[in-house]
Amino acid sequence: MITKQEIEKLFAAQLAKIKDARLREQTVEVWVEGCRRGGWQSVEQLTAMPFTLLTPARGVNFIEHTIAVTEGALALARAQADAYRALPYAIDEDRLIAGGLLHDVGKLLEIEPDGSGGYRKTRSGRCARHPISGAILVGAAGLPDELVNVVACHAKEGDGRPQVIETVLIHQADFATFDPLVMLEKGTLIQ
Ligand SMILES: [Fe+2]
Repeated sequence: MITKQEIEKLFAAQLAKIKDARLREQTVEVWVEGCRRGGWQSVEQLTAMPFTLLTPARGVNFIEHTIAVTEGALALARAQADAYRALPYAIDEDRLIAGGLLHDVGKLLEIEPDGSGGYRKTRSGRCARHPISGAILVGAAGLPDELVNVVACHAKEGDGRPQVIETVLIHQADFATFDPLVMLEKGTLIQ
């Protein structure tokens, strides 16, 4: 079983930036519950898991991806806050960091080892993609509706739908990590 302490260690730098202690705790609890429900037994399994099955992840693991997206979204928010004389919308950094850490938590239910060194989509993942299963986990933990929006709408499910600003920033940070890998595969990333 993957413990609260192990999740706290994996995301120590990002969790430390969440000011609301209850939100920090709930974020960790959702990860622990996702690991339990998905059958993930050890941190080593999490750091061996590719962050996507849609394109070769080229060694980028699920934890690295989650950290890169969280920090990327935060940097996008701070760039605007620093550059503009006045932000046209309020950005909630606690929600942004918790949302970044949780945006793909549903992948714990969507991906599983295939028994021969690779990974495959689970039955749960076929029934509901990770934005949906993640939103269910987040809602069940009692987190606010705005965080449900972040998780439910960060990928294609959110296209054209109403979104909080944190969803928009996490979406952009997420695709900044995903699109270049797809382009590498297609041969359209100029190097
Ligand atoms: Fe992601």
